[in-house]
Amino acid sequence: MPEPDGWLGLDGARVVVAGGSGTIGAALVAGFEEAGARVANIDLRPEHGAVRVTADLSGVRAGADAMARAREGLGGVDVFVHAVGINDRRPIEDYSAADWERFVAINLTSAFATAQAALPGMREQGHGRIVFFSSVAGRSGHKLHGPYAATKGAINQLMRVMAHEYAEHGVTVNAVAPGYMDTALTQAYLEAHPEKRKALIDLIPARRFGQLQEVVGPVLFLASRQASFVNGQVLYIDGGRTVV
Ligand SMILES: NC(=O)c1ccc[n+]([C@@H]2O[C@H](COP(=O)([O-])OP(=O)(O)OC[C@H]3O[C@@H](n4cnc5c(N)ncnc54)[C@H](O)[C@@H]3O)[C@@H](O)[C@H]2O)c1
Repeated sequence: MPEPDGWLGLDGARVVVAGGSGTIGAALVAGFEEAGARVANIDLRPEHGAVRVTADLSGVRAGADAMARAREGLGGVDVFVHAVGINDRRPIEDYSAADWERFVAINLTSAFATAQAALPGMREQGHGRIVFFSSVAGRSGHKLHGPYAATKGAINQLMRVMAHEYAEHGVTVNAVAPGYMDTALTQAYLEAHPEKRKALIDLIPARRFGQLQEVVGPVLFLASRQASFVNGQVLYIDGGRTVV
């Protein structure tokens, strides 16, 4: 199978987005489609994408099954983006055992299982791109982010090992790490704590939250042929939050 055509190399590309019904995920599906790709969306309720795979990705087997269905629908996978994630801000002592297991299952196990299932086909065809969603919280010790931060830090390490193991097969594996974005994930928290908005903005050199399209562009870049020698990196999309 030849590589897809176009400057980004995404025209005709077969792209799987896990979490493609989310705020960021839906924007990614639209962005990839605009670049000419065919997109499979794996989600609890997949409402976008040419191929729609309904799945609860919190188990290893579920991830593998869902990726197999997405691959079948697209006839192969050139790009896989994992954009599934949950957060729930609390002090460490307030998380139950079930909470912890849920975070690990949805944020981390789903990333491992889906990417693991995408990799053999990429290795066999000699090219592929994987992009995970990390977070600024995967690097810094922000309060009230215990399990979320732990799973995002783990995704960074999973990404680096996959990048190392598959580089010789023409596959790159990277992560994007958004800072505070105006999305559903942050909306509920900021509605409950409106006073936090200003305090958070004061921490961002750009003095504003990120917009959806500012995440889509970097993901398309990492998924593109233009990023063919970028491997094992966490790309922070944070208005400079992590430099101060
Ligand atoms: N929004 C932000 O500010 C922000 C910042 C940093 C990182 N991120 C990361 O970006 C990614 C996308 O975030 P978002 O803001 O679009 O969140 P979102 O809540 O809008 O979307 C998450 C998606 O994951 C899906 N999902 C949740 N549990 C699932 C399960 N068990 N099986 C299958 N699908 C499941 C949901 O249905 C939803 O479509 C996440 O990994 C998040 O951690 C977001």
